[in-house]
Parts: sequence; C-alpha cells; structure tokens
Amino acid sequence: MQRDDFAPGTVWLVGAGPGDPDLLTMKAVKLIECADIVFHDALVGAGILSLIPSKTETVSVGKRSGRHSKDQRTIDAMLVEAAAAGKRVVRLKGGDPSIFGRSAEELRALRNAGYPVSICPGITTACAAAASAGISLTLRGVARDVRFVTAHSQRGAALDVDWHSLAGGGSTLAFYMGREVAGEIMRGLMRAGMAGDTSVLIACHVSDPAEQRLTTRLDLLELATRSFAADAPTLIVVGAAVTQAHVARAGLPNVARSTHG
Ligand SMILES: C[S@@+](CC[C@H](N)C(=O)[O-])C[C@H]1O[C@@H](n2cnc3c(N)ncnc32)[C@H](O)[C@@H]1O
Repeated sequence: MQRDDFAPGTVWLVGAGPGDPDLLTMKAVKLIECADIVFHDALVGAGILSLIPSKTETVSVGKRSGRHSKDQRTIDAMLVEAAAAGKRVVRLKGGDPSIFGRSAEELRALRNAGYPVSICPGITTACAAAASAGISLTLRGVARDVRFVTAHSQRGAALDVDWHSLAGGGSTLAFYMGREVAGEIMRGLMRAGMAGDTSVLIACHVSDPAEQRLTTRLDLLELATRSFAADAPTLIVVGAAVTQAHVARAGLPNVARSTHG
C-alpha cells in the first residue's frame, strides 16, 4: 500500500484493534500514514493516535457507551462530506469494524453517495482478551463455537437476547458492552439452565498497559463486575474454555485476577 493506492475521495474503514499499537496490521499503519483526514472513536487510544502524522486532520467522533458525542447519521454525513471534498479518508474504529462497529451504516451512506469505500480488518477484543489470558476461545470436544454477543440495549429496555440459545450450546460466549448489564447476563444465562459455576473471564482495557483480568464463576458475575470493572471498557467471556485462563490467584474466593502480560 502506497499513497498512490489511496485515491483522493475514497474512504477506508480501518480496524484499530483493542488498543495496543503493536496489534495494528501493517496495512492499517500505512493507511493512517497516507490519510488526509482521520475520524476516530473514543476507544482508540493515545498510542494509536500518536501514529497519525501531525499534518493530518484528526476528528474525534467520540463514541463510547452512554456518551455518544455524535450520532451515527452525523458521522455518516461527515464521512461523505470529507470524501466529496476529495480527501483520503480513514475511519478508525476500535477492534474490527465488522464487529458491533456500525460499519454497515457508514458503508451504505458512502456507497449511496457514490464514494468508494473499503475495509481493513482489525483484531477484535475477544481474540485479544483470549490471547492475554492464554486461552483458546474454541476447545476441542468442549467449545465447538464462539458467539460474539452485544449486550447493548436501548436505555432502560431489557436485553433482546435468546438466552436459551446462548446457554444451551456449549459455546464460548463473548459479551461486548456488557459491563452495565452483567447482572442481567448472569440471570438470563442461569434461568436458561447454565450452571452457576460456569467459568467467566472479565477483561478490562484489553491490550492496554492498564489491562486487568479476573476469572470468576457465572453466579458471581454481577458482584465481580461491579467491584472490578468500574468504568473501564470491559469484555465478558463465559464458558468452559475460560477454565484454561492463566491468571494469578488472589485472596477472593472463586476469583483469580491478573494484570497485563
Ligand atoms: C461498540 S463495541 C466495538 C467492538 C469492536 N469493534 C471490536 O471488534 O472489539 C465496544 C465494546 O467493545 C469492548 N471493548 C472494546 N475495546 C476494549 C478493550 N480494549 N478492552 C475491553 N473491552 C473492549 C467493550 O465491551 C466495549 O463496550
């Protein structure tokens, strides 16, 4: 990828990974270096933003749970406007753009307006959390599949989730945006028949120097998340595959915690 391969008036949706700049793809780095303008989410950290050349225009569109500074339509319109101005546009998104990243809306808006748009994948948080914890999300004979689940709901509304389908399949469940509704996840899975002693990994600030991980059991998920995760970006992984997690034992019963590395 050279600057000539990035034509003016085109847009790249670029996965920034979970936070560690070393987890960016080489293509993502080249696109960031070639862009005229970079739009980024709030969860894209300082280490990655520092790779944007100082001459490049940088716009925070600030999306974080409960704190959306720009609504999706405004972001779509900003991308179209930048492409129409003949800029090389990078839209930098946390993790992978195709996982709970609202990329479909941005792709549609740009295509409808007639501007070429491409996607550069990134490492999604569940894969990075599994790597940090030293586990495999699939486990031969135990976890035949992985499910990426959004725990986001309209404020005040119950989660629109098929708990029986999640609880019954022997899957590894990776819940994104689950911190605020950890109790609902716990009760939904247990009412649907999942055992209270099913292993759970709570991973905050994954891949960042501030990363912290806690392993616990499903019936302690609400309590553990409340005391451990506070305000941090948090991924919750549920399933037998988590039992392999490599973490140091702490004093709490049924709970083990570890920091980054
Ligand atoms: C809107 S989703 C975007 C997911 C992203 N596209 C991905 O592939 O990881 C945002 C949620 O991802 C999770 N998340 C993103 N980055 C994280 C990190 N570094 N550590 C823990 N969770 C993270 C949190 O659950 C957060 O609420």
